[in-house]
Amino acid sequence: MTFYKSLGLLGIAAVLFAAGAGAQNKVPGEGSVNLDVPYVPTPQNVVNRMLEMAQAGPDDIHYDLGSGDGRIVVTAARDFKVKKGVGVDIDPVRIKEANQNAKNAAVTDRVTFLQTDLFQFDFTEASVLTLYLLPDVNLKLRPIILNKMKPGTRVVSHAFTMGDWRPDNQNVIDGEALYFWMVPAKIAGGWEWKIGPDSYRIDLSQQYQAITGTLQGPAGQSQLLNTVLKGEEFRFDASVARNGLPVTLHFIGKLADGGLTGTIDFAGAQSTRITATPAK
Ligand SMILES: C[S@@+](CC[C@H](N)C(=O)[O-])C[C@H]1O[C@@H](n2cnc3c(N)ncnc32)[C@H](O)[C@@H]1O
Repeated sequence: MTFYKSLGLLGIAAVLFAAGAGAQNKVPGEGSVNLDVPYVPTPQNVVNRMLEMAQAGPDDIHYDLGSGDGRIVVTAARDFKVKKGVGVDIDPVRIKEANQNAKNAAVTDRVTFLQTDLFQFDFTEASVLTLYLLPDVNLKLRPIILNKMKPGTRVVSHAFTMGDWRPDNQNVIDGEALYFWMVPAKIAGGWEWKIGPDSYRIDLSQQYQAITGTLQGPAGQSQLLNTVLKGEEFRFDASVARNGLPVTLHFIGKLADGGLTGTIDFAGAQSTRITATPAK
């Protein structure tokens, strides 16, 4: 039994402390490599919960960065039936274990394990990404996740957050924290559309998935309320005057082909299909 395995479920932070390493330092791996994150396997019940939180399924391509003995990738292929799974680990000993585990689970036709440095590796085709790394490693990955991955990609991290990118969901199982994010589309800026003769415009500010903004319509300006951005899906409400009376305007739609396409209704009535285009 190795040093890290013998520490069992104490967690990465405890392993780093025991190894006398700071969060920025590398720790020795088993296969003559230095690790940015020590090897601590995720317990199987936590693996299951991570994949449930991601809603992994047959349409998904799943990547695990720092895949250890491959348990998350193997579970996603065997039990959640993802169409493709990829694990990367810098330690050849882990890759050997992962390949054996994939063989035992009869999922070698759908999963691949690559011995490589996760920082030198393109993982952006994933629709589900799982991580059990460290806070500073998550922060280094964050710009790639936000700027290069498709909106709607689901990310689950065991134990560690993503700085000020607040999770969309979180869970604790047997004392282990899990965090879930959906990569938000980029929708900041001005968008305009017409309903009959009336011109409308929204101006959106964006901080990750949090959207604030204003609506300018025929009866003046109002704040956007109840904004929700989930991947490419966006909705908001706004209080507007219509025929001299205050009513709530609801928008629900999604970013597609460079436009925000969806429906607008006024207090549940008069639903109109619109496409908002970037304001000139
Ligand atoms: C905490 S373990 C997580 C293992 C697995 N994902 C799980 O949850 O059971 C972190 C893994 O990252 C690997 N690792 C550390 N630094 C790495 C790097 N720069 N590139 C790829 N893998 C790395 C380690 O070898 C280790 O297997």
